[in-house]
Amino acid sequence: MRAEQALPLKRIVLTGFMGSGKTTVGKLLAVCLGWSFVDLDGEITRRTGLSVPAIFAQRGEAEFRHEEAAALAECLKGTQLVLALGGGVPETPANFNLLRDSAKTAVVYLEGAFDTLQARCRAQLNQPDAVARPNFADTNLAKQRFERRAPLYAAISTHTLRTDERLPEVLAVEVLSVLGLSSQTP
Ligand code: S3P
Repeated sequence: MRAEQALPLKRIVLTGFMGSGKTTVGKLLAVCLGWSFVDLDGEITRRTGLSVPAIFAQRGEAEFRHEEAAALAECLKGTQLVLALGGGVPETPANFNLLRDSAKTAVVYLEGAFDTLQARCRAQLNQPDAVARPNFADTNLAKQRFERRAPLYAAISTHTLRTDERLPEVLAVEVLSVLGLSSQTP
């Protein structure tokens, strides 16, 4: 875990594998703080005009990572911002360095067991606004990614929270608590 950044915080970044709740918890946190919320995948879609699965299918993962790195660099300029990363962000060395060196930024790792995360991703596929996750299509490859990334999430984060059997609302309150922040909404 990297050293905690000096207060006052300007942004909270949520990292972790697919299905760890980064987007759901991030939206709740932003409401609590009265800050903006940005989902990095959503930002990539906004910038390219293509959904994440469409970028993977039409341009390949390398091009997606290129777009992802550009979007991350831009987003990290924001303040009073809660930013939910995509699960693969820390695997790109430039992203890892950018996150490590980002001042006044808390990076919170939402950690969970592989089976829990897989079950959540499967359940989300039944939701009307579901976006497919190309990198969860093959369980064995997803597990390899999970194992490869776990040390990167841990190395880049200032705080780690377990997400297994925890509701997003509870996690949002826990994030505020570990960061010493209080909710601005009653
Ligand atoms: C990916 C995670 C996804 C998205 C893309 C690739 C990954 O984001 O960026 O499908 O390689 O882990 P979520 O972690 O928000 O699902």
